[in-house]
Amino acid sequence: MKKQTFTFHNGVTIPSIGFGTWQIPNRDAYDAVTMALKNGYTHIDTALAYRNEPNVGKAIHEFDLAREEIFITSKLPAQIKGYDETLEAFNKTITNLGVDYLDLYLIHAPWPWDEIGKDCTEGNVQSWKAMEKLYNEGKIKAIGVSNFEIKHLQPILDQCDIVPMANQIPFYIGKDQEELLAFCKEHNIVLEAYSPLATGQVLDMPELKEMAEKYGVTVAQLAIRYCLERDTLPLPKSSHEGRIKENRDLDFEISDEDVETLRKIRDVRK
Ligand SMILES: NC(=O)c1ccc[n+]([C@@H]2O[C@H](COP(=O)([O-])OP(=O)(O)OC[C@H]3O[C@@H](n4cnc5c(N)ncnc54)[C@H](OP(=O)(O)O)[C@@H]3O)[C@@H](O)[C@H]2O)c1
Repeated sequence: MKKQTFTFHNGVTIPSIGFGTWQIPNRDAYDAVTMALKNGYTHIDTALAYRNEPNVGKAIHEFDLAREEIFITSKLPAQIKGYDETLEAFNKTITNLGVDYLDLYLIHAPWPWDEIGKDCTEGNVQSWKAMEKLYNEGKIKAIGVSNFEIKHLQPILDQCDIVPMANQIPFYIGKDQEELLAFCKEHNIVLEAYSPLATGQVLDMPELKEMAEKYGVTVAQLAIRYCLERDTLPLPKSSHEGRIKENRDLDFEISDEDVETLRKIRDVRK
């Protein structure tokens, strides 16, 4: 791969592709994460809300790699806002995972999932302050947010000490989030591309099939590679070993001209 790591503004590096674990039940998470580690992923993305942290952690422990060689991200549940509540949720996560530090901890969303759009600015600021404390104590190597738009990031920039190191957002061919991408670049915030396959929905697009054929790759590979070409960090998920392997076999480059063509594609999810 062209770029093996991204570097956060505090100097911590993060492997340039992560293994997503959303919708992998706890009972399957051990096998899925073990397959991912066997196939060279060293960056695993989970969340307390995914309810699979125990077996994600077990797979990491039992695999033949030192803890420092694996990058673990987890997330503060979207509905948990506030200082003490955040410290408590963090403790649950590290207990579930059986680790004594996290590589990256994110506020999962600016609002609870059943109240999308609600203004939780004060709660987010309080949660962020708790995350700053955990970061300063060395319990988290990097802190960030997820699903944050510019209007959610600005109060953190204005009222807190540490600029988020990452923002994990939906990003795939058809959903480029140009304005947010530019804002994050300007503030040295690494943009993580979640759902790089639009949870599978880009895979049947005829124009992508045609372009993938030209490069001798699959549509999934084209779509994941596209995220890297746009300087975002893709987090593909699969429960099948062949696909897990395929999704990180990205040793090709998409020409500038084709990147431009892909940028013009409309969101398949609209
Ligand atoms: N922060 C957030 O709010 C948030 C939200 C959504 C996602 N995420 C993160 O981003 C990760 C990925 O997003 P996602 O789970 O929405 O989906 P995705 O990676 O965009 O797509 C996954 C879907 O595509 C299929 N697939 C994967 N690789 C394939 C391949 N090579 N060929 C054909 N089909 C393939 C998978 O099926 P199989 O599993 O059956 O192979 C699954 O149905 C999540 O797991 C999570 O870690 C974060």
